[in-house]
Amino acid sequence: MNDSPLSIPTWYRDPHAEQAMAEGHAPIWRHLLSLVPEHELSGVKVLDFGCNQGGFLRLLHQIRPFREGLGVDIARQSVEHANRLKGNLPIGYQTDTRLTGYENHFDIAFSHEVIYLIEDIAQHAADMLRVLKPGGVYYAVTGCHTDNPLWPQWRERVAEQTHTVVQDRALDDYARIFSAAGFQVSARRLGFSGFVPYEPDGWMPNIAAAIDYYWHTKTVFRLVKPPVPVS
Ligand SMILES: C[S@@+](CC[C@H](N)C(=O)[O-])C[C@H]1O[C@@H](n2cnc3c(N)ncnc32)[C@H](O)[C@@H]1O
Repeated sequence: MNDSPLSIPTWYRDPHAEQAMAEGHAPIWRHLLSLVPEHELSGVKVLDFGCNQGGFLRLLHQIRPFREGLGVDIARQSVEHANRLKGNLPIGYQTDTRLTGYENHFDIAFSHEVIYLIEDIAQHAADMLRVLKPGGVYYAVTGCHTDNPLWPQWRERVAEQTHTVVQDRALDDYARIFSAAGFQVSARRLGFSGFVPYEPDGWMPNIAAAIDYYWHTKTVFRLVKPPVPVS
């Protein structure tokens, strides 16, 4: 356990909201995985950065079993919950933000709706480059950016309801910063074409906005650590 001095208890101030978040994210995680061309993971080490209660890696192992998984999060109690739920799966969960000691360790990494909460994104990009093997891939997904028309309202809600500080960045800021860190950067729309539930809970002003968000606004960055050149 690499306990960060900067840790928080849970991400949501209301800890019960975290289970609901995982249930809401599960169809999106499934869709995200359908976009990922890395199919054969049986020999692979996977990282989930900002894992919360760990559901993404449990789902990934069910769909594409991997050799070893690590989920890290700044939220201590969420990580403890993830560890209680993992059973015999080859997954560790720990409170961590910097991944010290994992140099050139992971083949593939994910973060789903986390990068907009990280204050020093250039440091995060450098950390992710360091912990990936050469040729390794980092999928960083977010719809929480200043190109999102709903962002002015959402940023207030996130700030009120969670223990983290919200960052205002455009998609281009991420592209530029990850590129400057040394990643080969590409991106796509999430393009979620499934049925989007009608949830009048205040996040989406109407169902059309919800459909557009999951189809168009939410973005998947594919960040590749350059392979070692063959001499
Ligand atoms: C919106 S939640 C997403 C959780 C999960 N990835 C999912 O898809 O449901 C954002 C998560 O990122 C975590 N987080 C925020 N800043 C972090 C940081 N600097 N290092 C690690 N985790 C962080 C939060 O504690 C929270 O669990």
